[in-house]
Amino acid sequence: MKDFMTVARDAAFKAGGILRENIYGIREISYKGDINLVTEMDMRSERAIVGVIQAAFPGHGIIAEEETSIRNSSGFTWVIDPLDGTTNYAHAYPCFSVSIALESDGDIILGVVYDPMRDELFTAQKGQGAALNGKTIRVSVIDTLIKGLLATGFPYDRKVSEKNNLDYFHGLLMASQEVRRDGSAALDLCYVASGRFDGFWELKLKPWDVAAGSLIVREAGGMVSDFSGTRFSIHDSEILASNGRLHEQIGEILRKTVSKAG
Ligand code: IPD
Ligand code: CA
Ligand code: CA
Repeated sequence: MKDFMTVARDAAFKAGGILRENIYGIREISYKGDINLVTEMDMRSERAIVGVIQAAFPGHGIIAEEETSIRNSSGFTWVIDPLDGTTNYAHAYPCFSVSIALESDGDIILGVVYDPMRDELFTAQKGQGAALNGKTIRVSVIDTLIKGLLATGFPYDRKVSEKNNLDYFHGLLMASQEVRRDGSAALDLCYVASGRFDGFWELKLKPWDVAAGSLIVREAGGMVSDFSGTRFSIHDSEILASNGRLHEQIGEILRKTVSKAG
């Protein structure tokens, strides 16, 4: 039987290849909401991943963003975002990823995030460290927020909800060196893990956005929590990830920001 990591990697490469080959093609776009879109490629990617996983582990549960929801008592559930960065993909902006995690009895034990355009595969297994294309990665050592490069994103309901991250964005833009909004939360987390970003925060993400990336950050020596800094679950509506050294400084600004988002 193939091991979990081999299967996750095979699935990510298969789906990533399909996404890469089709990025410049004409595709059908439909809308889940005003600005939350879904392409036929989200579906094709999901079917490719689910096919690889089910061939190897037919008894496992699978929760994927678009159409797969298999819950059972196997003790294993795969948590999948088949295309993280759909808006970028629909505009042929080459920043998107495939995110695959394996949860075992409530714990994320494996995470894989693949960027097909850069051919970068971020991986982690619980207790075994994190890697980029097989080489160990570590978070950055920056310990002063004003020298830190941060990342964030804005929720799809930002036009109708006051919890839109704009107040937090203002606070951290002023306190850090710069803030990026790249459009793939899974990659944002992997960039924290590999030291490209020093911190990342966002509101209202879904389990499949953060399941793999949060393990990769932790295994690279970083910290992941809610804005209070005390706890984290992939089901939470807040995430703060950092190199650890900046965690308290970023958290303090998030907490003291006089925010409608609070
Ligand atoms: C989105 C991306 C984006 C984040 C959004 C997510 P999707 O995922 O991760 O960076 O800001 O909130 O929903 O919809 O492209 O899979
Ligand atoms: Ca996503
Ligand atoms: Ca997605």
